[in-house]
Amino acid sequence: MPPRLTRRELLAGAGAFALLSRIPVGLALGPSTSTSPATPALIDDLIARMTVEEKAGQLTLFGSALQTDAAAAANPVTVRPTAEGQLAAARAGRLTGIFNGSNVRWHQRLQQAAMASRMKIPLIFAADVIHGFTTVFPVPLAEASSFEPELARRTARAAAVEATAVGIDWTFAPMVDIARDARWGRGVEGSGEDVLLGRRMAEARVRGFQGEGLDRNDAMAACPKHFAAYGAAEGGLDYNTVDVSERTLREVYLPPFRAGFDAGALTTMASFNEISGVPATANTWLLDDVLRGEWGFRGLVVSDYTGDMELILHGFAADERDAARLAFLAGVDMSMQSGLYLRHLPPLVADGAVPMARLDESVRRVLRVKAALGLFDDPFRRMSPERARSMQRRPETLALAREAARKSVVMLKNQRDLLPLKRSGQRIALIGPMATDWWNTAGPWTLFGGDDTGNDLASAMRKAMADPGALQVVEGTGFGRGLPGGVQAAVAAAAAADVAVLAIGESLEYSGEAQSRTMITVPDAQQSLVAAVAATGTPIVIVLSNGRALALDGPVLEAPAILVGWFLGSGSGPALADILFGEHGPSGRLPVSFPRESGQAPYHYDHKPTGRPDPTPDALQPFKTHYRSVSNSALFPFGHGLTYGRIEYAGLDVGSGRLSADGALEIGARIHNRGTRAAEEVVQLYVRDRAASVTRPVRELKDFRKVALAPGDSADVRFTLRREDLLFVGPGLEPTVEPGLFDVWVAPSAEADGLAGSFELVA
Ligand code: BGC
Repeated sequence: MPPRLTRRELLAGAGAFALLSRIPVGLALGPSTSTSPATPALIDDLIARMTVEEKAGQLTLFGSALQTDAAAAANPVTVRPTAEGQLAAARAGRLTGIFNGSNVRWHQRLQQAAMASRMKIPLIFAADVIHGFTTVFPVPLAEASSFEPELARRTARAAAVEATAVGIDWTFAPMVDIARDARWGRGVEGSGEDVLLGRRMAEARVRGFQGEGLDRNDAMAACPKHFAAYGAAEGGLDYNTVDVSERTLREVYLPPFRAGFDAGALTTMASFNEISGVPATANTWLLDDVLRGEWGFRGLVVSDYTGDMELILHGFAADERDAARLAFLAGVDMSMQSGLYLRHLPPLVADGAVPMARLDESVRRVLRVKAALGLFDDPFRRMSPERARSMQRRPETLALAREAARKSVVMLKNQRDLLPLKRSGQRIALIGPMATDWWNTAGPWTLFGGDDTGNDLASAMRKAMADPGALQVVEGTGFGRGLPGGVQAAVAAAAAADVAVLAIGESLEYSGEAQSRTMITVPDAQQSLVAAVAATGTPIVIVLSNGRALALDGPVLEAPAILVGWFLGSGSGPALADILFGEHGPSGRLPVSFPRESGQAPYHYDHKPTGRPDPTPDALQPFKTHYRSVSNSALFPFGHGLTYGRIEYAGLDVGSGRLSADGALEIGARIHNRGTRAAEEVVQLYVRDRAASVTRPVRELKDFRKVALAPGDSADVRFTLRREDLLFVGPGLEPTVEPGLFDVWVAPSAEADGLAGSFELVA
């Protein structure tokens, strides 16, 4: 067995490194950026003067009595407080804040009521600002396709500017759950299957939401969620049981949270699921030992929507009082929507079942977050009716939405350079349920989106064409069901055209919360439409709308050109037209592997090797790791995406081929664009640890870089690998790195050959 280095030795050589580590988070409620007069002493003084009921009130959050229809539809109906009831609760100090309201005048009234309460503690206003506010940015999974964390930072920043203007202080985002099972509907809210991409996106989004300092009027507190392993639900079924080893938890599911906290997030949300028998909402090990103990997180933990009450249905708590006690003592500071803390914490304290000191600790965490947000300085600081109007959907924000949408599009195929289309001299049939649809382009978790009529693909294509009359538009079919005469009309349009663009896929209802699918395919009605159109012999371009990886097959897969369009938000139609007509090239890369068949789920590129790996995906050999009919490889792997250029990789350089104790290894390659069009290539660095005391994945992404290449251009891309990049969770669950041989690839996707080499990590 090669010698293992301890963390101390490792850090001595490599400097501070937080991933996988037990080093406390740096920032969390350290020196406050706030100029607030709410010093620790003042907070202590408030706590000393509060009644136990007021303390329970500070730990109680409810949905806003006034909500848009979309916001109201985001959660099951439980209690629906009246505006009067909510104002009275604020006045009585029985409410810490509300969520998913968006009416600035209502927020002002409610805050006035809180400021008229005995303790005058300001309310906090939260919301699910997941991918934009009134301007809708691409769904997070789409945006992850950009492989551009800076873009995610910018869209989060822009969303914060809009949301804070109506008084939102706190977003329930980013969702940082690693999602490796495409059946799970909530993968759409996150950054896909990869840990490194997940960490970088988590960090970027936290920085974007929180801006230049939390006490700024345009900053809101981020909430990396759902803690933890929500994406590991058995069978990809939302809310379902999670049974995951501590090693996988630490190596896969926890690092994006850690990245979010290291970037300054002060809050997190407990997930709905159980983990190996203990619901996350009552998981003392997870919340107290790992989060607060090992990581030193000093922020607050909020339950998910009625998550504490659900401990009863999990079969973990006997009744409501027990549920409140278990969640609270495990470390959930704030109860969302159930009202359990309000009802049960005071008697639990009176009976001695919950120590008053614990209650004070949770209240202190809540008040510290309110103080960091500057709410004690000015409780109305984010509520400006003037800004609520003037900061929404500004031209620069809409331009950013279009840029983000464009950068989120992934081109899977482009045979015979069918794309880009011509602006003139080409008759185009645009067919499918997404042809004129703008509603679905918003994607799931759009609760506050503005009017995006006119954002549809048909309108944008017409605008881009020299002769808009050369575009014929036919719906053809609904998402799940055919339309009378739909296929006939589509066939006629395609037969009369030089090229047919099929805008098909999932509607927004197919993904999101509680929207798991058993088959991750394009619905049958649309497959039939594509088959009929393809039979005309007119070349077809598929433009998919989708909230997950899809298993493409049949005529959809056989189409010469396929674009993955996800749900792109306010910039959707124009961005797709930009790409279709070549105004901009596609530059996105898949953040999730597209498997060959639904039955491969969960599939992720960084799986472990088996003792009988399948060496030839195209010719299945007996007694190897594959299914009867298909190899267990991706149809389109993580990282895949084509450009309008012709990209070549050459000249892998692994320097000395040795990475030493204190060292860094430079790995370089030369990337050429031999084509006639500009391209942006996402160059990816993967490694494989050949032999270790714990088996390692067949490949792991270690870095990536986007390079812009004019026709004929080339660029040297250099990556720096350090020892800490090779850490894994060792046999004793400690961060470990072991000397030995590593394979390395600089490649255009997780399963492309790219350029392959090796290096040695020396002790
Ligand atoms: C979701 C959370 C969300 C909350 C409030 C829950 O159903 O799981 O992600 O923040 O509702 O809307």
